[in-house]
Amino acid sequence: MGNLTGCRWLTVFSLVVCVSWMSGCIEQSDTLIDDQGARLSAFNWNVPDHIPLPHEPADNPMSEEKFELGRHLFYDTRLSVNGRVSCGSCHHQDKAFSDGVARPVGATGERHPRNSQALVNVAWYNNLTWANPALGRIEQQVMLPLFGDAPIEHGINEFNKDTILDSIQRVPRYASLFAAAFPEQAEPLQGDLAWDNIVKSIASFVRGLASFNSPFDRNEHSAAARRGEALFNSERLECFHCHDGYNFSNATIDRGITQLEPLFHNTGLYNVDGLGAYPYPNTGRHEVTEVASHMGQFRAPSLRNVELTAPYNHDGSVATLDDVIANYAAGGRLITQGPHVGDGRMSPLKDGFIVSFDISPDEQADLVAFLQSLTDHEFISNPRFSDPWASEPENTL
Ligand code: HEC
Ligand code: HEC
Repeated sequence: MGNLTGCRWLTVFSLVVCVSWMSGCIEQSDTLIDDQGARLSAFNWNVPDHIPLPHEPADNPMSEEKFELGRHLFYDTRLSVNGRVSCGSCHHQDKAFSDGVARPVGATGERHPRNSQALVNVAWYNNLTWANPALGRIEQQVMLPLFGDAPIEHGINEFNKDTILDSIQRVPRYASLFAAAFPEQAEPLQGDLAWDNIVKSIASFVRGLASFNSPFDRNEHSAAARRGEALFNSERLECFHCHDGYNFSNATIDRGITQLEPLFHNTGLYNVDGLGAYPYPNTGRHEVTEVASHMGQFRAPSLRNVELTAPYNHDGSVATLDDVIANYAAGGRLITQGPHVGDGRMSPLKDGFIVSFDISPDEQADLVAFLQSLTDHEFISNPRFSDPWASEPENTL
């Protein structure tokens, strides 16, 4: 059990955060229960008709104004202990909101144990982060990087929060952005209410990051990608069992009301105990539940834009898509040197769908071409999702 101080402070907000080290703090995600699709809102999701709209929490419905305020805050380095870290530091638009490093460093120099995730269709997941079954709401998730202390990312705490809020209040543009986003409030930029509003707006921005406009979506993928698609969906390779549906992840919200248990899988990246075991704290779902059989189980991430999000897997320990595929083809990963020497192929808790297969170099190239056909170039260049401060070096307007 770790330090709960940060968590106590967080409860001053209407949102209660469940952090991964609180094993007793498991709660069902409300997205799981309301998985029949969305309530319609005024927000323009800009997704194709066949994609169900995601759930919007009753206490934070989407609005264009909150999304726009959230965009400014997402990219604002004032929201950190050293004035240098924003969400955008670890989530770069040109990399589908991942960051290109194995494990990122937070505002105090602490290295995160896990790889920065891409932020792609986050609203459609039924649980968030690499392996936390207790984290269902984006509002909860946003509080972890802002206020969490294991690891420290933005480093906001009860001692510096007033100074940091003051630096936000001093930016003239925020007065109108907050007023437009929270028109029902007299003073949306004051005190704890301001922090609540900051969390809700950033969550709205993240919720609005929808990506469904790849060549695959437009049915414009190449012949090689189509051959790769057939391999992906074959019983030989098994990929589709876990990366299925319109978001290429079985942790997607519309999978049916009966499926209340979120899905997690051990893909044999490491073994489960002894030499070569999943290195602490990256034991996956087990880190939260402490159930032995959950060792090494992770959420199947969406494969949309995966071409842009190297290095791969929960700890960034796999360099390329070819390496990811090689691990699957071997039925797990054998590590022959370094601190984690061991044989993930032997893991007794490996998912039944992780079985070795033969794949020729041509087939492997086709499979990679298929994964590349899931890249949405509009998503990574859309000004709607871009840094509003980038063209203003003073960062004070
Ligand atoms: C220091 C780097 C860093 C910063 C800063 C950071 N993140 Fe992240 N983000 C990560 C890492 C690492 C993960 C994976 C966390 C895990 O699995 O425990 C992640 C995961 C996420 C997820 C979950 C995505 C999914 O598919 O489930 C969301 C949402 C997210 N971050 C949003 C944000 C927002 C919003 C901010 C700013 C308030 C932010 N992040 C700041 C590194 C960072
Ligand atoms: C048993 C379920 C399962 C099967 C089958 C499966 N995957 Fe995965 N996949 C996962 C999980 C879980 C992860 C994350 C594992 C981790 O990081 O420890 C993952 C990660 C990945 C990643 C890395 C994504 C990232 O953002 O880092 C890629 C690429 C990938 N899988 C492609 C495939 C392909 C291609 C196949 C078929 C050869 C396949 N997967 C089969 C569950 C599965």
